[in-house]
Amino acid sequence: MEEKTLTRREFDLLRKYVYEHAGISLSDQKMSLVQGRLSKRLRQLGLTSYKQYYDHLLEDDGGDELVFMIDAISTNVTSFFRERSQWEYLHRELAPLVASRPHKAFRIWSAGCSSGEEPYSIAMFLHEKLPSHDIANCKILATDISQDILRRAMKGYYSSRNVEGLPRKYITKYFNKERTGGKGDDVQYRIQPWLRQMILFRMFNLVYGNFSVFQNPMDIIFCRNVMIYFDMETRDALIARFAELLYPGAHLFIGHSESLTRNSKLFRMVQPSIYQRI
Ligand SMILES: C[S@@+](CC[C@H](N)C(=O)[O-])C[C@H]1O[C@@H](n2cnc3c(N)ncnc32)[C@H](O)[C@@H]1O
Repeated sequence: MEEKTLTRREFDLLRKYVYEHAGISLSDQKMSLVQGRLSKRLRQLGLTSYKQYYDHLLEDDGGDELVFMIDAISTNVTSFFRERSQWEYLHRELAPLVASRPHKAFRIWSAGCSSGEEPYSIAMFLHEKLPSHDIANCKILATDISQDILRRAMKGYYSSRNVEGLPRKYITKYFNKERTGGKGDDVQYRIQPWLRQMILFRMFNLVYGNFSVFQNPMDIIFCRNVMIYFDMETRDALIARFAELLYPGAHLFIGHSESLTRNSKLFRMVQPSIYQRI
């Protein structure tokens, strides 16, 4: 079926809306991507133009359509134990950090957790590296703007391809292998219930969410490959929020292609993509 053409005016309306509601800035180069990804949605809704789709967004008080659109235009690409050097750092530092904390709970936040590979990597890592009395005091919060992706994360199903980079012993220890009965890739790997239960999944918009819901300071925030969608101003505001939530000496992990710019006085760079609250 032929794809509807997105006009410049329609693109400007949609990108203003996405910026104002999710902090995501879409460059001119994203115009054909937006058209490609939203055209199917127009057909599903029986709409004949992107202006009609924009009106539909404005009428949707619950915000479900916004989330749908963000799912369509952003990438949820993620993987287990992404950004290897950060795990190597944690391999050296995590146990002493947890053991020397002056407070009881050790709180870790996966902000922009996508389909769950990041928070489940954290949970597996804690199990590999910490004594059981310390694991019991670790709390993992995982949030994302997308309800849909959170549902997937909570279910914890992964394909053979998703788990292929993991050590075999992790697969037997942390996953159940399930037959799906279908053709092709008929095996799925599901995170074991006890590991799923270590994580609290919640929907949270990092740009417009109410940060006062976080009552306790954090020890580590992972916010990796999320700020790439935000402009400088939005990024700086978010980093300042993170700084308020972190204990002095607590860590912020970001993606390798990201950096802390104007807020660098709030953090000390330990190594690229790893920062410590001053
Ligand atoms: C590329 S994934 C990164 C996943 C994981 N952190 C990693 O590095 O592998 C980016 C995630 O950020 C989420 N996201 C985008 N804008 C957001 C916002 N304003 N608030 C919360 N999450 C957002 C997307 O839904 C997506 O799941």
